[in-house]
Amino acid sequence: MDNTSTKSMLQERIDRRLIFFPLPLQGHISPMLQLANIVHSKGFSITIVHLKLNPPNPANYPHFTFCLIEDGLSEIEESFNTDLISFLALLNNKYEPLKQVLLQLVADTSCDPVACLISDAIFHFTTEVCKSLQLPRIVLRTGGVCSFLAFAAFPLLLQKGYLPLQDDRMEEAVIELPPLRIKDLPVINTPYQDKLYELVQEMVQQTKASSGLIWNSFQELEEMPIAKLRQDFQIPIFAIGPFHKHNCTAPSPTEDHSPISWLDKHDPKSVIYVSFGSIATIEEAEFLEVAWGLASSKHPFLWVVRPGLIRGAEWLELLPEGFLDGLNGRGHIVKWAPQLEVLAHPSVGVFWTHNGWNSTLESICEGVPMICTPCFTDQWVNARYVSHVWKVGQHLEKDLSRENIERAVTRLMEEREGEELRERAVRYKEMANVCVRPGGSSYDTLSKLLKYLSFS
Ligand code: UDX
Repeated sequence: MDNTSTKSMLQERIDRRLIFFPLPLQGHISPMLQLANIVHSKGFSITIVHLKLNPPNPANYPHFTFCLIEDGLSEIEESFNTDLISFLALLNNKYEPLKQVLLQLVADTSCDPVACLISDAIFHFTTEVCKSLQLPRIVLRTGGVCSFLAFAAFPLLLQKGYLPLQDDRMEEAVIELPPLRIKDLPVINTPYQDKLYELVQEMVQQTKASSGLIWNSFQELEEMPIAKLRQDFQIPIFAIGPFHKHNCTAPSPTEDHSPISWLDKHDPKSVIYVSFGSIATIEEAEFLEVAWGLASSKHPFLWVVRPGLIRGAEWLELLPEGFLDGLNGRGHIVKWAPQLEVLAHPSVGVFWTHNGWNSTLESICEGVPMICTPCFTDQWVNARYVSHVWKVGQHLEKDLSRENIERAVTRLMEEREGEELRERAVRYKEMANVCVRPGGSSYDTLSKLLKYLSFS
């Protein structure tokens, strides 16, 4: 088939509308919008239903329509700042407002008919809403399959006494979920542990009850977890990631590209890129250890210090005066970086990450080995898989000291051990590139998903 006919096939419109409902957190919104871009490029029309919190910018997506749910925001924002689990529980209370919005969208005969709702897995309440409207509900789980299996095992983990966590058992292996240890289980420090278990159970049950499950992951990366998932979940499963590697024509949001000019000045594979994602927070003392650890590592570093990252601080005011100047251009700190471009930059040699799923996958896609400092939930599992299954990174435990940091950087950037991780990372990068090409696992699964969506 020549290019022209491929192009005309891609641009063929399918008279069906897909409604997306992302969880309003950066690590969940981005992959859902990427998925929306992919299916839009295959001809579907797209509506994004969203809350006021972290709204997507319609100017970046002129090809989508957007629909805001106005209700109850102040209450929700408050709980977001105090406890993530209470926040997620509150978000799952939006039954009536969502139902009203969906009712209008379904009834709107001036648009393409609605095929289904694509809901974030954490929005478990969407099952009931969809049922009341007889609308198929397909779930997008934005994390990895490996951590989802650990979530799905919560009833067993509670029954066997692995959960709730006990300080003196953290190093023990969870024999039912190798290679996880108790300390790798996807929990979070919250006074509301019961709410956490309930939320996880609902997420898993309502995923099982859905009409299909989409993953931002790929067969070659998570072969065993995907096989296990297929055994336990009798619904259509579509692993079509990495989403951002699909060749879709939609524009990417505009971002600050100044970190790239800074990276341009450095030698290949010399820079440590440091980012702990969009939610994680660290203590003042940890922040200072990170700063001094990076300074004493002797390598150039690009460090994302998000406002709000350091508990009790605005931004960089805790850094000793002249800290960056004293490094003579070896350190660069930004509030936010175009991470996909940063990881793809030839100067980046290592990614020190909190192992949110997106960051983990993005690093794998660019063949960048990782220093893993997980902070909560799925990040623990992802980090364990990075260090013990894919073997493309190493743990740096949260009890951070500048000596440990310097040691970890040296190991990965200068020693033979790091070389081996890098070689493996390059092999995963190749697999990630191949799987989205014609004949690749994610490419083929995407074709199946498109067919499924066309007839749902
Ligand atoms: C959250 C949870 O923390 C994580 O455990 C879960 O897997 C997904 O949701 P978050 O902390 O935001 O995610 O981390 P991550 O999943 O890595 O997503 C962060 C996204 O923001 C990535 O796509 C990354 O590329 C982007 N990012 C981050 C930037 O573009 N620039 C930055 O400076 C930092």
